Amino acid sequence: MKPSLTLYLAAPRGFCAGVDRAIKIVEMALEKWGAPVYVRHEIVHNKYVVDTLRDKGAVFVEELDECPTDRPVIFSAHGVPKSVPAEAERREMIYVDATCPLVSKVHKEAERHSENGHQMVMIGHAGHPEVLGTMGQLPEGEVLLVETVEDVADITPRDPEQLAFITQTTLSVDDTAAIVAALQDRFPAIVGPAKEDICYATTNRQASVKAMAGQIDALLVIGAPNSSNSRRLVEVGRAAGCAYAQLVQRADDIDWRAIEGAKAVGVTAGASAPEVLIDEVIVAFRDRYDLTVDQIETAREDIEFKVPRVLRETA
Ligand code: F3S
Repeated sequence: MKPSLTLYLAAPRGFCAGVDRAIKIVEMALEKWGAPVYVRHEIVHNKYVVDTLRDKGAVFVEELDECPTDRPVIFSAHGVPKSVPAEAERREMIYVDATCPLVSKVHKEAERHSENGHQMVMIGHAGHPEVLGTMGQLPEGEVLLVETVEDVADITPRDPEQLAFITQTTLSVDDTAAIVAALQDRFPAIVGPAKEDICYATTNRQASVKAMAGQIDALLVIGAPNSSNSRRLVEVGRAAGCAYAQLVQRADDIDWRAIEGAKAVGVTAGASAPEVLIDEVIVAFRDRYDLTVDQIETAREDIEFKVPRVLRETA
């Protein structure tokens, strides 16, 4: 007889409006211009999504100079430094920007503060494409990066009275609040958004993990190792008391021995993980357990972003 287990599905989970739009952009570009369509960087950080689009004719590259000039190129949802569209224009390429509108909003904030004479502090993870893209909206040296509360003590702004902060959209809400507090403590004149720039999808997914943490013995986060928001969900789960919280790309990655004896397991998915991977995980649990599936819903999302006009126009 199979052991019994309850699987709690977090809601919301998985695709956000920015990811949904970015994938649609690649699909519509393939329809409009035919294959191949080039995509600079993984359109969203998920292997399943990237492999599926590759099968349809998308070619993924890391830099623009890997693309021929006679094929369209799409910039990923994470955003790009200003130099990238400028270079595409110089090479007279057709390009479509799939940067999430909520990332573009942060780009505009950075520019606005800079025009007002503020030097920027960005809270984010070094090397993440969103951080490279946002920092690349301004000339080099104009954006100081801090990753931790400790980093706040180490930065040397030009003028502590003329500072503004922005954040990556996929950070831990709680860790970011601590960094913002440290910045405000050291630089009382610093200006910024009311709280931070963390997007609704990141906030909602973290809140749903916190809400289920007390009821589960283990948490599985479906997402890619390079997906910032997915990794934050694991950390949020652990901080909320889940003794076992693990990132898995798909059902094959589940360490069944680690969750042996668990009576309740929580499942969520990062903003770039498709629902089909959740279904796969449910099936894998059903094979091994007498399964009850329940959902813990903490918010409803109905945000949708339009694709760029060039893809809405016919022919
Ligand atoms: Fe955009 Fe947030 Fe998704 S910034 S891409 S809505 S995780």
